[in-house]
Amino acid sequence: MPQLRPPRLFCAIDTVDFARAREIGRALAGVVDGLKLGLEFFTANGPIGVRQIQELGLPIFLDLKLHDIPNTVAGAMRAVASLGVEITTVHAGGGLAMMRAALDGAHEGADSHTTPPKIVGVTVLTSLGEDDLSQIGQVGPVADQVAKLADLTVEAGLAGIVSSAREIALLRRRLGVEPLMVVPGLRPSWSLAQDQKRVVTPSDAVRLGADILVIGRPITEADDPAEAASRILAEVNGPASAA
Ligand code: C5P
Repeated sequence: MPQLRPPRLFCAIDTVDFARAREIGRALAGVVDGLKLGLEFFTANGPIGVRQIQELGLPIFLDLKLHDIPNTVAGAMRAVASLGVEITTVHAGGGLAMMRAALDGAHEGADSHTTPPKIVGVTVLTSLGEDDLSQIGQVGPVADQVAKLADLTVEAGLAGIVSSAREIALLRRRLGVEPLMVVPGLRPSWSLAQDQKRVVTPSDAVRLGADILVIGRPITEADDPAEAASRILAEVNGPASAA
């Protein structure tokens, strides 16, 4: 699949501990392309914590997975945009009007110093299987529900989609090269245990059409996070850049 953009690596820092987050962020400055801060970090450290991590100089992906009535999401998105983060998330299941309100909020909240964040839509959480979907009144198969919500995300005008590695190929075929494809849940080949052979590696994900690779614990729990991130980038970019 031809790609519009070179792949970028964002490290997910999932902790409530601000000092730990800053320590990892510092170690990764100049190595990764950005840091992903999620609900754990945000609920503990708030916008002030985000601003302090931004001072390290890396782009921030603020993964809040917003899902509420359009008016509330627009308000929250105005506040997110005022932070000047590069990427943020909403649940596509919030509906077309909610996603459009999120876009409006993002544009209203950005000032002359900040660019509105790219908003990407979450389709079906990978923690949900067919049974879970039917329990909440959604019809499977999961891939159909993912495709339906991905279409809605594009119709709303969002920048892209959070995709599990399993669905990147399907979504690229369906939506073309334009939408930003953000892919978590990857494991570098060197971190794989014998029993995890079916896990998708970062290079596989890029071959399938991923733009933003989100990788957390293989980096944050490594003895040397910068070295782990460099190894992942070398694996993705090929042996030529491994030196
Ligand atoms: O597993 P790892 O530590 O690499 O997780 C990376 C990040 O991706 C975490 O912040 C997690 O919340 C997110 N993630 C996700 N969807 C998945 C798997 C992980 O958003 N299916």
